[in-house]
This record gives sequence, structure tokens and C-alpha cells, in this order.
Amino acid sequence: MTSQLLQKGIERLNWAKTHMHVLGEIEKRLIDNGALDGLKIGMALHVEAKTGILAMTLQNAGAKVRLASCNPLSTDDSVSLALNEEFGLETYAKKGESNDEYYENLYSVLGLNPDITIDDGGDLILLLHTKFKDMLPNIMGGNEETTTGIIRLKAMEAEGMLKFPVFAVNNAKMKYLFDNRYGTGQSTVDGILTATNLTLAGKRIVVAGYGWCGRGIAMRMQGMGGNVCVTEVDPVKAVEARMDGFDVMPMIEAVKTADMVVSVTGCKDIIDQNHLEAMKDKCVLANSGHFDNEISKDALDAYSVSKKQVRGLVDEYELKNGRKVYLLGEGRLVNLAVGQGHPVEIMDMSFATQALCAERVATHHKELEPKVYDVPPEMDDMVARLKLKAMDISIDTSTTEQAKYLASWNEGT
Ligand code: ADE
Repeated sequence: MTSQLLQKGIERLNWAKTHMHVLGEIEKRLIDNGALDGLKIGMALHVEAKTGILAMTLQNAGAKVRLASCNPLSTDDSVSLALNEEFGLETYAKKGESNDEYYENLYSVLGLNPDITIDDGGDLILLLHTKFKDMLPNIMGGNEETTTGIIRLKAMEAEGMLKFPVFAVNNAKMKYLFDNRYGTGQSTVDGILTATNLTLAGKRIVVAGYGWCGRGIAMRMQGMGGNVCVTEVDPVKAVEARMDGFDVMPMIEAVKTADMVVSVTGCKDIIDQNHLEAMKDKCVLANSGHFDNEISKDALDAYSVSKKQVRGLVDEYELKNGRKVYLLGEGRLVNLAVGQGHPVEIMDMSFATQALCAERVATHHKELEPKVYDVPPEMDDMVARLKLKAMDISIDTSTTEQAKYLASWNEGT
């Protein structure tokens, strides 16, 4: 059994590697320039194949790497095993680990006394600023992968609490335009279909949140024949959703006809007890946001008479009003708790940006302040050009005259 699991992990890692051309190019660059050679890098990301390739890229570039998961339910055990046993990468992660185990694993990563941190959700940085403050002086800087982590970091920065520079990888164009939109769009559909084997066509599907992730999910759900309704608190995003062709209404109205609700807001209690009371019978509930508080499990427990697992990672709650609802993946991000995460070529761009930001921290940390930094635009440009090369697409170049025209304010008047 173990060797089957190991084989599966090796296959998944090899498959991902074969399709991550951009990161492959960055690996050559890092080996050539030696920027990461001898550095210690602590990582807390979703432990699955694409993350494994990022970790190995950094390791191949000469860094000493330790990897833990950033969510107790998102680990691919086959990959975790293969990283440890086949590829010599210290990995601390198990699918379904308890809260205590989750934190023990993060502590093991910090036991490396890292120079650079790479987070998805900000837990390593939070620990370094609370429980392990003595390690702060050693840290050159960090990277953050996701919207939720950036929100946390900005709050720390605003209160003057952030003690080292962090690159907001999530806010790079080559990250959010593709990963948040097409990545979350596809992997959320994948997770829901894997969990339920239900049809999307003809279903009323409510998407909570119309950020880049929400619009990707809404687009893909509609593409599969779903009848999509969006809920929002931001008036501009609500207008965008309407003009993109979706119904827009408050959640309390939307749940009355919903066959599925997918929450991807980054906020808590998007589904609370009031919504459960009004919800259509047999509604499927899924979350694709970072934390498992978007669909309130306290509210589900309080307003249910029973709960039972009816399929792998599908829990049926019988509500006090006699209706039933189905919660996928314990309310944790469905695309990783049930699905395999974002597609390989999407993570290729996100993780190429991660590797370049790690290089940037290594080479520029002395001149950086303890702030949240945007990824430099030239990095987006580099990743985009490598991606075009990987797709065998060439594009035009402005002539000198065109460049001059665009840079002038009075030519042509
Ligand atoms: N695979 C690795 N990290 C991921 C993330 N943040 N979202 C989706 N899939 C991933």
C-alpha cells in the first residue's frame, strides 16, 4: 500500500514537473545566479504536486527547504510521502491532521530557523510575530501567496507590527489574473463534481463574492450550464456581476432557490443560521475561500438535528425545519480538500513568481523595509514572456516610432 502511495506521488510530481515550463526556466536561472545557494527557506503551502515542484526548484537552486501544509485537509499524502522518501525534501504534512498536528508541523518548519518564509495564508509569519519573535532578526523577508494572507499582512503593516519585508505574490498580475480566476474557476468545479457527481447544467448556483476567484467560478459554472446568481457587499463588483450577465441579490433571497452555494469571499459567516432556515431542501454547500469559516459550522451544528457522512467528504445535515443540506469537504477549500488544486500550468505561473520573489528577497533584503511589497512589474513581464514561449506564441513589438508616440503628450496634435 505504501509503495503504491509512493508511486502515485512520484507520478504526480513527475507529471507536474513535465508541464511547469516557466518554473523550469526560473530554476535554470536560480542555479546559474546562485542567489538562493545556502539559504534556508521555510514554506507553508498546500502540499500537493505543484507545490512540491516549487519546493524542489528552490532545493535544486541550493536552498535548504522545509515544507508544511497551510491547511489541515489540503495535503496530497502521496506527494508528501514522495517528497520525503524519493526526493529528500523535508515535508511535514498529512491530510486530516488535527489542529495540534497542524501547528506541530509549522513549528518543525520554523525549527529550520529560516532566512526566507513562503506562506499561503500567513500562518508562518503570524507565528514568527507572536510565539517565535526571537527568530525575527534572522529573517530576510517572505512571500505571501493568497488574498487572505495579504489582508492579514496589511493589517499588521498598518499597526506597525510587521517586522520584515514581504512580497505580495498574490497581487502580481501573472498570479491573480490566472490563478485566482481560471485556477479557482476550474479547480472549484473539479472539487464539487468529484465530491458529488451531480450535474451543473440546469442548477441554480449561487456564488458568494465577485473578486477574481468568484468571477472565475461564476464564469465556469455558467459555462457548464449552471444558472448563476452572485451575492456581493461591494457595489462596484455587484454592478460588474450584473453586467457580466448574472443575477445579483442578497444571500437571504438567493438561498431560497439555490441548488448549490459556493462561497469565496475571504470573510466569515457568509452562510449563517438565518440563511440555513431559508435554504432550499438538498442544497449543496461548498467553500473555496482560504478559511473554513465562510459557511458557519457553528450555525450548521446549532440548526441541525443530525449529521452524517453520506459520501467521501460529503456531510448531510438534517435541519430543524426537516430540510437537508450537504456540506462538502468539511467547509474547507473544496478545490484542495476534495479536488487536486489548481491546474498545473496555472500554478506554473504563480510559483515562477514565488521563486523570483524568493530570489528578490535574497538579493535585495538589505534595502527593503518591513512592508508589504508589490511584485515588480518587470517580473510579471518576464513570467508572461516565458509563458508565451511555453505556449509557442509570439507577439508584436512596438517600433521605435510607436514607442516615441506613446511616450509623448503632443505628437499628432
Ligand atoms: N496548489 C498549490 N497551492 C494552491 C493554491 N493556493 N490554490 C489552489 N491550488 C494550489
